[in-house]
Amino acid sequence: APLRARNTFGLDVRAPLLVEVSDADALPALLASPEFKNAPPLVLGGGSNLLFVEPPDRPLLALTGRRVRRVGEPGDRLRLRAEAGVDWHGFVLDTLARGLGGLENLALIPGTVGAAPIQNIGAYGVEVREAVRAVEAYEPAADRFHRLSSEDCAFAYRDSVFKQQPGRFIVTAVEFELSRNASPRLEYAGIADELAARGVGLPTARDVADAVIALRQRKLPNPAVIGNAGSFFKNPIVPAGRAEALKADHPALPLFASGDADTRKLSAAWLIDACGWKGHRIDHGSGDAGVSAAHALVLVNHGGATGRELFDLARRIADSVHARFGVALEPEPRIIGATWTPPA
Ligand code: EPU
Repeated sequence: APLRARNTFGLDVRAPLLVEVSDADALPALLASPEFKNAPPLVLGGGSNLLFVEPPDRPLLALTGRRVRRVGEPGDRLRLRAEAGVDWHGFVLDTLARGLGGLENLALIPGTVGAAPIQNIGAYGVEVREAVRAVEAYEPAADRFHRLSSEDCAFAYRDSVFKQQPGRFIVTAVEFELSRNASPRLEYAGIADELAARGVGLPTARDVADAVIALRQRKLPNPAVIGNAGSFFKNPIVPAGRAEALKADHPALPLFASGDADTRKLSAAWLIDACGWKGHRIDHGSGDAGVSAAHALVLVNHGGATGRELFDLARRIADSVHARFGVALEPEPRIIGATWTPPA
């Protein structure tokens, strides 16, 4: 099966087999079938957080169930259960149309509902964990369906049990709890600035979503126009003392709270930008692997880049940041066909 249109880097690779499943109840029989019995599948969502360095050597599975239904209404809140195949941004718009707040800061993130809890998607001061009540998943090795509570999911910055134990669970649906009276979340300074520029005084969830959409359209390259997987590296979390020492040497370095008093989150984009990579394009091989000119944290495929070229570029970027700042960058997307090793 051709995968070019199924990964947002636009890499031209093929899978030995791709099966779409609309009803999660079909998973046990499918995974016991000869095609899957000895080859645990790779689950594909929107393909927006994936780098194929090699074509997959396993069958691919895509969950295409797109039903959304109300499952409870405690107080001013509403619980919605969405199947894994629902488009993420479409779901955010659906919740806004229902008068619900909580997901507006996560507008325009590419991908599916099923993929959202895997790396605990986050943007503009909010992470999806805050709205997730439970995740439904099938565990092939145990032939069991589970309902994982938010605690069971072990959410952390761009992390969860699903990312820690790849292949163990297949997310089939997510249950969210959203509020009709949520206060807007404006911690991320850029949102307040954008709202002020639009003359919005008391923002509704819809206003915040519009501001987020405008910011994303301005700052992040659109994968429909130029292949990319969003941020290629996580923002590194380092001991507070180390962060303060770096800040003393580089006063412009942005530092963010990490949610833990002993550590700080650094801006990977700033570190990469300081090493001169922004807008850089590799001039050998296809000549199409590069770093976005709009955002230093985004690797781009100008058309014919290979996954290997993008991986090698990421390696060089991480090595240069490590040599200059002593900070080890870690990729954010799932990498297929190569193993990332931290800079020595
Ligand atoms: N910056 C630079 N050069 C650049 C871009 C940014 O120096 O080319 C500096 C600026 O000082 C800026 C700071 O980096 O203030 C932070 O940039 P930005 O606000 O764009 O956020 P980010 O830390 O680079 C993270 C997420 C994004 C999310 C934004 C907004 C990660 C790995 N990335 O990026 O998520 O949209 O915050 O909340 O945490 C993604 O995960 O794919 C993604 C796009």
